[in-house]
Amino acid sequence: MPKDEKTIITVCMGSSCFARGNAEALALIEETLQRTGAADRVELRGSRCENKCAAGPHIRINGATYSQMRPEELKALLNRLAEEA
Ligand code: FES
Repeated sequence: MPKDEKTIITVCMGSSCFARGNAEALALIEETLQRTGAADRVELRGSRCENKCAAGPHIRINGATYSQMRPEELKALLNRLAEEA
């Protein structure tokens, strides 16, 4: 991805994904973006539902969907993104 393009992170904030962990995931993403200085290179979006609630929580990063995302996996993914940015 060209350096001037923003990474787009979409967090499903539908009730199922919210209850399954995306409330905490959103806080973790925001904290990580601030701490790493990557906030200006990332566009953070929310969605209402990805229509696959049973496999949630879902987070999309540049169109790639990550299902059943756990905090440890999300932390590793965010750290990789921060290093690449
Ligand atoms: S609430 Fe996230 S997929 Fe439906």
